[in-house]
Amino acid sequence: MKESNFKTYKIVTFGCQMNARDSEKLAGVLEEKGYIEIESEEDADIVIFNTCTVRENANQRLYGHIGQLKKSYLNNKNKIIGICGCMMQEKDEVEVIKNKYNHVRLIFGTHNIDEFGNLIDEVINSDDKVIRVYDESSNIEKSLPSKRVFKFKCGVNIMYGCNNFCTYCIVPYVRGRERSRSVDDIIEEIKADIRDGVIEVMLLGQNVNSYSGVASDKYSFANNEKVTFPELLEEVAKIEGLKRIRFMTSHPKDLSDELIRVIKSHDNICRHIHLPVQSGSDNILKAMNRRYDRKSYLQVIKKIRDNIDDVGITTDIIVGFPGETEKDFEDTLSLINEVLYDAVFTFEYSKRTGTKAAEMDNQVPEEIVKKRFKRLLDAVENCSGKNVEKYVGRVMEVLVEGEDKISGKLTGRLSNNYLVHFTGDKELIGQIVKVRLVRSCKFYFEGEL
Ligand code: 5AD
Ligand code: SF4
Repeated sequence: MKESNFKTYKIVTFGCQMNARDSEKLAGVLEEKGYIEIESEEDADIVIFNTCTVRENANQRLYGHIGQLKKSYLNNKNKIIGICGCMMQEKDEVEVIKNKYNHVRLIFGTHNIDEFGNLIDEVINSDDKVIRVYDESSNIEKSLPSKRVFKFKCGVNIMYGCNNFCTYCIVPYVRGRERSRSVDDIIEEIKADIRDGVIEVMLLGQNVNSYSGVASDKYSFANNEKVTFPELLEEVAKIEGLKRIRFMTSHPKDLSDELIRVIKSHDNICRHIHLPVQSGSDNILKAMNRRYDRKSYLQVIKKIRDNIDDVGITTDIIVGFPGETEKDFEDTLSLINEVLYDAVFTFEYSKRTGTKAAEMDNQVPEEIVKKRFKRLLDAVENCSGKNVEKYVGRVMEVLVEGEDKISGKLTGRLSNNYLVHFTGDKELIGQIVKVRLVRSCKFYFEGEL
């Protein structure tokens, strides 16, 4: 083996919670090899970009970053610049990188993250590029060491991939079909995290409600061969020392009464449901292949609100899906006024090559999409804060997550995912404390310990 002097690394993560979790694993592997994390992409000996390709602008941002690193590579030819994640599952993008960005020396995909340690060794010992991208996963990813961003909370994958094929979405193509991890693996991982100081976990999957995993005899589930998501969630809720459980993402078509019952009956399951609606128009929902309509979505929302006190409900919305008319868009606006979400993540439709929607011939002109997007933001802004006056004056539990850089105050989250800012000692970071909510500021509360 060549002597290597590489000792520092930086991982740049784009995209969702799944990628954030994968990056913790990449960091874990590098730390085990003795590398130290630093902030600067220019100075680090190893820079890994964990990419997202859900929307076009994430791809553009990646190209910006790697273009800028060319100079630091030329100054240090031993520098390793690597790219992994969803974008690398697209053959065309890999070709662009190979042809235009010669300084990128390592490329791997979402299905071979567990080979990362070997890939790094390979690239250190080779003068060539190392490119390893599989089309499909042969098995469920192995457990990797991980370096958590927060000491007290972390994500836990419960399943990988997606079978839903929403017509706008590239995820099923780049992450493959659904694979659920076993109950035993999930529970063991969480117990190890707790021994390590974790008190909050976020169960992660593209569509957690379709979880369907096996369990060994030591668990006594109902007589079915496969364990459902509510069953898994209940088992996780019973783990000693686990103060908070979150999960993401739920698909409205699969959110069951049983899930609502389980949330309601365990105080450590957070009162927050992220339930992406995407559009308020039945025509568009059908064209998106979402497999629910406005009415059934609203029924699920009502059931959640009727059963779970103080629940926070958040959503994702896409504007400008092919064929979206002014009337369809107004249906989306009226839906957000009706539901009064606690937070809305808004996206302009982005055409992804390979998806069905990209082939549709009724694409909405960009200027219309931009105008609607602006109107959507205004509508979200108008609705925000309407749900929250009921909390003002109450004392609620906050998991303290850090310090707000500007005000120097502590910031933390309520069970329902609202942020709270309050004055307190830094020592409290990582603990659950009681805070009186004194003022609502739309997206967060000001409180006092
Ligand atoms: N264009 C715009 N937004 C998209 N999303 C997924 N695919 C696209 C796309 N092609 C959004 C959806 C999803 C969120 C994670 O990203 O709203 O819920
Ligand atoms: Fe994409 Fe739909 Fe799967 Fe979510 S459920 S990852 S939007 S295909």
